[in-house]
Amino acid sequence: AKVPPIHNEPFLDYAVGSPERINLRKALEKVSSECPHIPLVINGKEVKTGQIGKQQRPDKHQQTICEFEYADHENVEAAIRGALKAKKHWETMPIDERLSIFLKAADLLSTQYRAEACAAVMLGQGKTVWQAEIDAAVETIDFWRFGCKFAEEIYNIQPPENVKGVWNRAEHRPLEGFVAAITPFNFVAIAANLPSSPAIMGNVAVWKPTESAMLGAWTMFNILREAGLPDGVIQFVPAKASDFAKQVTHSEHLGGLHFTGSTAVFEELQKKIAQNMSHYRSYPRVVGETGGKNFHFVHESADIENVVHNTIRGAFEYQGQKCSATSRMYVPNNLWPSIRERLVAEAKTIKVGSPVDFTSFMTAVIHERSFDKIQSYIQKAKESSSCKILFGGRCDKSVGYFIEPTIIETTDPDFVTMKEEIFGPVVTVYAYDPKHYVETLELADSSSKYGLTASIFAKDRDAISKAEEVLRNSAGNFYINDKCTGSIVGQQPFGGSRKSGTNDKSGSASNLMRWVSVRSIKESF
Ligand code: SER
Repeated sequence: AKVPPIHNEPFLDYAVGSPERINLRKALEKVSSECPHIPLVINGKEVKTGQIGKQQRPDKHQQTICEFEYADHENVEAAIRGALKAKKHWETMPIDERLSIFLKAADLLSTQYRAEACAAVMLGQGKTVWQAEIDAAVETIDFWRFGCKFAEEIYNIQPPENVKGVWNRAEHRPLEGFVAAITPFNFVAIAANLPSSPAIMGNVAVWKPTESAMLGAWTMFNILREAGLPDGVIQFVPAKASDFAKQVTHSEHLGGLHFTGSTAVFEELQKKIAQNMSHYRSYPRVVGETGGKNFHFVHESADIENVVHNTIRGAFEYQGQKCSATSRMYVPNNLWPSIRERLVAEAKTIKVGSPVDFTSFMTAVIHERSFDKIQSYIQKAKESSSCKILFGGRCDKSVGYFIEPTIIETTDPDFVTMKEEIFGPVVTVYAYDPKHYVETLELADSSSKYGLTASIFAKDRDAISKAEEVLRNSAGNFYINDKCTGSIVGQQPFGGSRKSGTNDKSGSASNLMRWVSVRSIKESF
């Protein structure tokens, strides 16, 4: 295979009067008025079950953005059977042909379906125009294109040594069985990538998109179909999470799990897989990206403006619902008064509003369950004598699930909002004594069970080196003088360790390697 040169998809800026802005406006109107009914798609056939679910608009929960069908037991069985059948053809298809489908999907999204995809996640998942562009357009396109490039690299990995009369080869086969893909609400790029990356390597996937991101997932699935993905290679199977988990983990053909979601659900899935282990025909590969308690750590030598700017973005973009979002912060107490003042001043300028208003910086959080959870953490801070709400804290779910950007200051580095994942627009700050820089780094490292992302802000090189050393295991993605969100496919492979996941780095060849099982071939002459 020879994949054409690949670069990151350029961002569109949706400037006033630009064609992309006009197209997006039209797409928003269309998506807002249509409310499609989304079926299951098994072996290329649309299936209805009569068990109907709805996706509501986060900023206007009275509005249903789409309806969909829930799969029953039989449907999931049929999807697994059909996928295994489709695999026979898919895994032997010439690699160029297979990859060209994903390259074509990327082109279709980049040109024809960009506005529609962005509109689906703006209205369905509460993204602002910019957040939609980086997710539904750029990152999804990058996952598909770079996925092909990584696949090509992997197929080219061959044993370096041949001796006289021997030809050694490596054949990169897909896994036994099928891969179950269980995908989250917060990035449609992740949702599209979790079934796609195994499929790029010749696997078949049974995909359960989540309810609150159904329309975005459906848009991506249709693009793959239009690009020529054969029937059955990716089965589109919305289902109740526990039913789906039970069924896929019971199948003797489970070959892999590609998951993004909560730590608790991932652990449950792994337990189910462990219970069924002797029943499987192979050892399923388990790849998961889960929670985080990501932090910005500020050293005395930091550039204050840079800290403030990046913290506002890291903590509040997409309402703090990125798994990488900044949710705690350590600031030296001599810098804290000026950082506090600027942080609050910046937070005051944040516009929280409708995604259709292109000047909104934040919109609503995804659903009521999430709203209630975030509100309960804010309430705990309000009630604690160790905390002060410096800004925000108000929550209103009368029309949509709106939560103000919230900044909490605490004198207790072990306070619950410093330790537990909130998944909302809440950042808690602890001011430390700069004489205890290293001890406070150690504290930041040890005070959460997660290890997803972290940033050090400093100009002093020794301070940076020290942070890199002490925080070695605190984050799978570590940033220096930058926010801890916004990894880019092909540039910063993404993933965390500890309880943040298996760290198989989406957006890199290591993730795609998980979906191959190598056969070594020795031919003697
Ligand atoms: N990759 C995203 C980020 O870095 C999170 O999933 O923000």
